[in-house]
Amino acid sequence: MITQKTIQKVFDAAKIEEVVGDFVNLKRRGVNLIGLCPFHDEKTPSFTVSPSKNLFKCFGCDKGGDPTRFIMEHEKLSFPESIRFLADKYQIEVEETTQTATEIHNKHVTDTLYIINDFAKSFYSKNLFETQEGKSIGLSYFKERGFREHIIKKFDLGYATDTKNEMTSAALKKNFNEEYLKKVGLTTQSNGDFFRNRVIFTIHNLSGKIVGFAGRTLSKDKKSPKYINTPETDIYSKRNVLYGLFFAKDQIRKLDECLLVEGYTDVISLHQGDITNVVATSGTALTEEQIRLIKRYTDNVLLIYDGDRAGVKAAMRGLDLVLQAGMNVRLVLLPDGHDPDSYLSEVGATSFSEFIKENAEDFVLFKTNVLLSETAKDPIGKTRAIKDIVSTLALIVDPIKRMMYIKQCSERFDISEAILNKETNTVIRDNIKKKKLKENLESPLPNEDEWIAPQKSESQKETIFEQNDSHQELAVIHVLFNYGTQIYDENTGKSVANHIIEEISPIIDLFDVSMYKRIILETIDMISNRQFDIQHFIGHQQEDIRALCITSLTEKYPYANWEAKGMYLQTQKMPNENYILDCDNALLRLKFKKARKIIADLEKYFKEGDLNDTESEEYILNVKVYQELLNRRNQMAQQLGSVTF
Ligand code: GTP
Ligand code: MN
Repeated sequence: MITQKTIQKVFDAAKIEEVVGDFVNLKRRGVNLIGLCPFHDEKTPSFTVSPSKNLFKCFGCDKGGDPTRFIMEHEKLSFPESIRFLADKYQIEVEETTQTATEIHNKHVTDTLYIINDFAKSFYSKNLFETQEGKSIGLSYFKERGFREHIIKKFDLGYATDTKNEMTSAALKKNFNEEYLKKVGLTTQSNGDFFRNRVIFTIHNLSGKIVGFAGRTLSKDKKSPKYINTPETDIYSKRNVLYGLFFAKDQIRKLDECLLVEGYTDVISLHQGDITNVVATSGTALTEEQIRLIKRYTDNVLLIYDGDRAGVKAAMRGLDLVLQAGMNVRLVLLPDGHDPDSYLSEVGATSFSEFIKENAEDFVLFKTNVLLSETAKDPIGKTRAIKDIVSTLALIVDPIKRMMYIKQCSERFDISEAILNKETNTVIRDNIKKKKLKENLESPLPNEDEWIAPQKSESQKETIFEQNDSHQELAVIHVLFNYGTQIYDENTGKSVANHIIEEISPIIDLFDVSMYKRIILETIDMISNRQFDIQHFIGHQQEDIRALCITSLTEKYPYANWEAKGMYLQTQKMPNENYILDCDNALLRLKFKKARKIIADLEKYFKEGDLNDTESEEYILNVKVYQELLNRRNQMAQQLGSVTF
């Protein structure tokens, strides 16, 4: 186990903007930084990073947290793995307490899968460079293709021999668990090696960890597929991977352009020719997830495809998604029969770069030309082609850019700009309608740009408001989270958290929302031996508490949904200087509601209880409590009157 001391060191060192900045392109906006959320698809940034709070928060998909949480979510790591990840980044030495047998056993599955993949990579690499078979078949194949040794090593290329289970037995000898070998896709259900008699391409994720492999056959046998890939596993999903992105991402950001090719070998060849802002889809059509990956680094994509019909078709398939993501797409078609790898090998890196520069075409206009050439003199075909291009134009997010395209297309198709514009707008409206319909089906909650606490439907709101005090309880929790460590009383040095606990403790059992109650109880526990520490809730193991905390800390207008009820707070945005006022108000409201509740209970007791027993101790006590409460309630009502209740 990692020591608490190390964890603290990591917490202290990890700056949210630096941690997130490694994966997301952030731009400054006021005191915060914003970027496109890496966790969901979006075109306008709602992903916010607050350096002062050391938190991230997406107002679109609601994910949020501290640097460790970001790494956990983004890299799919466990908590200790994320600590290690960050410790590595900040060069902090990780101290460990000795592990118990169960702790070792429980170590996260993905951790093991990565380790096994790492082993396999080394194994295949050793095969390639050190065995007779590997050298004479695998290595000579790569060399024949013109791959030099440094690039073979950089991309972790390897070789799998034509034996039944050489890799598997080697792994078992190293005490890797058979079940995990199967889980990671390297060993088949019948205990054989998944990759046999193939050269191996290692597939890395964004942070360079090995998620899977691809194997290219060297046999001429047409029956076996040219490439096979690691099956979908906990750590490998084809949709989510762009081959080469780990090696390309810095350069993509720097050049503000991503070259997109189809094959593994294309990526490697281009790298060898010092063209390093290149990634491959590995033969499939571009997925939304892959586009999202690219969009973290740039808005500009240049497709480099084979100039034959299939290449053009393949390029077309990816276009809509890319345009929808608001990206700019250009295209280069290579001379017929060439893929980037073969063309570069033929003409060399310099000519290759020149060819790309000279032949890169705007994709929308390219599509227009293709459609036009296909339907040259056929009026029915032309109508269909216009429909097709209109559907593409409608996907262009930027209206100015769209107008420019409409103008050019109208010239090429020889139809009026106004008609084309009208047609396009119709499709845009249809798309919006369809999208809304889909969203409504998928999620009943609206996705507001500004953060507003999740809206309940009117009727739900009403009943919650009538029946329980969740709003008032939540308001107190907000104050606790945001200002818990601040000083409430200058004279005694009492903190806001301490004050809240003092005030709330007597009515804690009356809390309606058990999560809020739990937060208060844990706070009581916490401050009984140390200071209030928001980290406890930011990193809380219970997801809903963690989420509530992050939301509360990052929310823009915590009481926005109260406005409808006419319950304006003195200080809408809870500016720091007014936290004492907000604390008082929140507590007052909650106590008022709880007092009303007890009063109502007592009145019921007086009405329905055993009135023969009016002399009993209990009865007398209750009368006293009742009178006291009435007094206090009236006082509170007066006070609340002055804060516009
Ligand atoms: P070389 O023939 O070695 O130059 O490979 P290549 O990468 O140029 O292959 P090709 O142009 O035939 O295909 C482009 C990409 O499509 C490959 O890199 C693979 O990612 C993918 N691909 C091609 N054939 C197959 C196949 O049979 N199965 C799978 N899963 N993918 C394939
Ligand atoms: Mn090729």
